Amino acid sequence: MVEAPLPGREGGEGSTAFPKAALMPVDLSMVEIGEETRIDTGFQEFNRVLGGGTVPGSLILVGGDPGIGKSTILLQISQNFAASGCKVLYISGEESLRQIKLRAMRIGELKGDIRFLSETNLGQIKETIYRDQPQIAVIDSIQTMCCEEVTAAPGSVSQVRESTSLLMQLAKRSGTAVFIVGHVTKEGQVAGPRMLEHMVDTVLYFEGEKNASYRILRAVKNRFGSTNEIGVFEMTEKGLKEVLNPSEYMLEGRPVNASGAVVACSMEGSRPLLLEVQALVSETAFGLPRRTAAGIDYNRVNLLMAVLEKRCRLPMSRLDAYVNIAGGMRLSEPAMDLAVVTAIVSSYRDLPVPADTVLFGEVGLSGEVRSVSLAEHRVREAAKLGFKRCLLPKSNVSRLHVPQGIRCQGIAGVEEAIRFLFDEGKE
Ligand SMILES: Nc1ncnc2c1ncn2[C@@H]1O[C@H](COP(=O)(O)OP(=O)(O)OP(=O)(O)O)[C@@H](O)[C@H]1O
Ligand SMILES: [Mg+2]
Repeated sequence: MVEAPLPGREGGEGSTAFPKAALMPVDLSMVEIGEETRIDTGFQEFNRVLGGGTVPGSLILVGGDPGIGKSTILLQISQNFAASGCKVLYISGEESLRQIKLRAMRIGELKGDIRFLSETNLGQIKETIYRDQPQIAVIDSIQTMCCEEVTAAPGSVSQVRESTSLLMQLAKRSGTAVFIVGHVTKEGQVAGPRMLEHMVDTVLYFEGEKNASYRILRAVKNRFGSTNEIGVFEMTEKGLKEVLNPSEYMLEGRPVNASGAVVACSMEGSRPLLLEVQALVSETAFGLPRRTAAGIDYNRVNLLMAVLEKRCRLPMSRLDAYVNIAGGMRLSEPAMDLAVVTAIVSSYRDLPVPADTVLFGEVGLSGEVRSVSLAEHRVREAAKLGFKRCLLPKSNVSRLHVPQGIRCQGIAGVEEAIRFLFDEGKE
């Protein structure tokens, strides 16, 4: 088969390969925006992750492991929306109305215009939304929804894709903000939210450790806001409670003046977070050192130990090391390096770092401490929580306005930090 020539190319003038009518592109200055409205979710933490509240007509996917609290948080924000005067429709394809009522009773009072449906037929749900025109609709979960036009089973790739595109059109046409729950399952079993991520406006992940009560809401895609913000919640018997001061929460109950434990400051989006880094090093029993890292990159820990070995002449290759971020947080910021290195040395020497000290800084392969972003935010957070001393990259110090009550010590290299903290730092 020979391809038809493109107009203006070999086909010569007058060739009409595309007989369709041409479109009229518009000048953006002619597009009216109107005032941007955002609907308050009733949780500051949730609003922050959404970029300031819910945008009408948007489609928001909330993903997360089984039992992490997706239905709970969506029911809570539904109640908040209704209490503030919005019309809400909550549709569950996995739970009976009785189950929803039991959860609702546990969480708190139901006020305002909020209606419930236990339904999986998306065609009927669509008609209901067009008829009732709620401002907010919740669909729990996308894997249980079923479009009659598609013959595949609910939860299959084609069914999930069709259901999502139908909900997208629905949200845009009706102006209803639609929250959908997506289950995260092992790859290949069910169509997970990965594929959906392209289709929706916003993707939020609700994460947490099974044995810790805090939960983190994280935006991984947001057409209406930044994606590196997190919201912190705590799971209680009465549902999720927002944690407005996560640093305080993360440092609760930390050991004072124990060796191997130091406080670091990491940034999560625009928000500084103080955390405890713990390390335990001990002689290797069988020649090959054993290392584990929880909450922080394993390879990064190995790299930092190699730096300690080579630049500070510490015999790390003969030591087992266990590094852990207390509380089960997972971090990937290089600004944690200085704290990890210090925690390892503190455990190795069995000397504590003073409990009123916070550290942050990236460690390079030559053992230098490199500057990090938003140093001032981090120092301010440390001062706010009553820390008296901060060790930070020297190159950050010159541009810093030091808040009252905290002393900032610029550090150029790992060796200098070790000397300062463990040899001469004792006043
Ligand atoms: N009485 C209770 N007291 C304290 N916590 C509870 C209570 N009942 C449930 N929970 C918490 O709520 C969690 C379940 O929340 P939820 O049903 O919202 O999760 P989910 O993410 O929607 O789960 P699924 O994936 O099964 O739909 C439980 O794992 C538990 O932590
Ligand atoms: Mg659920």
